[in-house]
Amino acid sequence: MSGLIPADIVESVRQATDIVQLIGEYVRLEKKGKNYVGSCPFHQERDPSFTVSPEKQIFYCFGCGAGGNVFRFLMLSENLSFPEAVHRLAARAGITIPRTGGAVENSAARVQERAWEVNSLARDFYRQYLNRRPEAVHARSYLQKRGVSSQTAEIFQLGYAPPQWDALLHFLASRGCSSREAVSLGLLVAGERGKPYDRFRNRLIFPICDAQGRVAGFGGRVLDNGQPKYLNTPETVVFNKRHLLYGLHLARAAIRELGFAIIMEGYMDVVTAHQHGINNAVASMGTSLTPEQGKLLLRYTNQVVIAYDADAAGEAATGRGLDLLQELGFRIRVVNVPEGKDPDEFIRLHGREGWLELLTGAESLLDYKLNRSFREGGDSATMLARVLPNLAAMPGELEREEGIRRVAARLSLSWEAVKDALKRFQSTGGKKWSNPDKNVKSKHNIIKSSDNARFKAEFILLQILLHQPVLLPDLQREVGPSFPKDAGLREIYQLLCRFGVKGDNPVRWMDELTERGQRMLSQLLLEKTPGSDPVKIMPALVKVIQSDDQQEQKTQLLHDLAEAERKGDKEQVALVLSQLQELVQCRNKGALQKGGMTN
Ligand code: CTP
Ligand code: MN
Repeated sequence: MSGLIPADIVESVRQATDIVQLIGEYVRLEKKGKNYVGSCPFHQERDPSFTVSPEKQIFYCFGCGAGGNVFRFLMLSENLSFPEAVHRLAARAGITIPRTGGAVENSAARVQERAWEVNSLARDFYRQYLNRRPEAVHARSYLQKRGVSSQTAEIFQLGYAPPQWDALLHFLASRGCSSREAVSLGLLVAGERGKPYDRFRNRLIFPICDAQGRVAGFGGRVLDNGQPKYLNTPETVVFNKRHLLYGLHLARAAIRELGFAIIMEGYMDVVTAHQHGINNAVASMGTSLTPEQGKLLLRYTNQVVIAYDADAAGEAATGRGLDLLQELGFRIRVVNVPEGKDPDEFIRLHGREGWLELLTGAESLLDYKLNRSFREGGDSATMLARVLPNLAAMPGELEREEGIRRVAARLSLSWEAVKDALKRFQSTGGKKWSNPDKNVKSKHNIIKSSDNARFKAEFILLQILLHQPVLLPDLQREVGPSFPKDAGLREIYQLLCRFGVKGDNPVRWMDELTERGQRMLSQLLLEKTPGSDPVKIMPALVKVIQSDDQQEQKTQLLHDLAEAERKGDKEQVALVLSQLQELVQCRNKGALQKGGMTN
């Protein structure tokens, strides 16, 4: 899993990083016994169930099951790959990672690194121009006219592109960046006869960063009524509008803290919002929301408020964007910005207080659509049809019941009529609307009801083995090849077998495991072992495994028997019957047998 980075380097990076310190930069941690606890950054919760162990250098959330070491934490919170996380922490610890292979992955990563580097050169050029040059005085007064303070301009790293056709071109050349490179990043345009020129001229520049604050591209606004009003970087190796949310790197802390994000449309909306202390605002940059933007945001919250310009809000709500977000599991509210204004104008006019008041009036997506549908008119069936997808996608049973009640009341329909229509909708094309949250939950329930005892037994057995690997041979003798059934536990069991009775520090296995394996290992190491002497309960646990195996064999044999009978294969019937008999006898014998673990 560690790719091209040598394992000993990975290990020294891990050892040089203190997990409590790292996580402490993201989560407010409190010492509790040996461990630290806080609110999980990976899901919404009231009671802190996120646990960090300084002794084992791992974290685990007893609420959502996220877990692992410093690398996993960074991967999850910064949306990084494993090598990226290692690089990040290496840089922090001052450890140099030797550049080894020229593998494809490596060179693609290098191309991206270079793109961010060149982009930040360009950002600095535009920024210096705005701040220092006398020629940029009209750009500065434009910002002033729009109420943007110089402090805000600095936070958003705003800049100004001069009117010349070759200002950036010369600057980049002086910094060792070829025009070919700059063209590939959209900073220059190739030009008809191969003579490249600056893409952005006489425009106010908004650097567009990814969640980590790396400059992915730019938006440039005219200073007058020229067209097009905004010009953006075309798609490049690091710029894809569908994957970015403007302002996210500045908003993510506030989003986590406040528990929701505000999605606006434009650059200026976000800049003004932040200047007024509304720091959880990001912009979708004019397009309808994409699933990629949704997934990006889901790392920080699953609650959003949509604050679009008056007519755009309507378009967004009736389009796919918001429904897509809802399918991803978001709870969505929509705020109506009155007087045909956009958030930028509204906030400048009514200030933070006015905005917060507006927020309290935000409607749920269902209500928003319901009211809209009502205004659009038609018979009640038509009006109902427009909101069924949103009813179906509501996350909880209770919430949905409540939604049905509201829809019925608004459209003067009976509760049963709405409920029936919803059922029909769900049984036909409506399936795809089912909320992923709900899927996860119901899958969970299935696991719980049938396999819970088995899983519990496997879990505790592995917990015991991790603490006392000397017991491994005893267990190996008693359990069959189906142990453990759970895929995550299986990975850990295989490692246990590999190291044998002498054992190893299991914390070091983390990077060899899949995400699921890492969650399991973290849970195994951080959850208390039940009872005072876990070894005493081992025979009972083994018994659970064995009888589950036998039950499974029996089910299989009964199935084979039915199949043989259906085919009229007498020989096969006899064979399966004798196997069944053997199985039953073996079970009785097992119960009577003295010695071994199963007595
Ligand atoms: N947009 C764009 N390209 C355009 C027009 C718009 O990328 N030609 C994006 C920009 O991100 C812009 C957002 O859509 O910020 C919203 O557009 P609009 O409402 O027209 O502009 P405002 O953000 O209100 O800009 P301003 O207040 O400066 O007029
Ligand atoms: Mn505007």
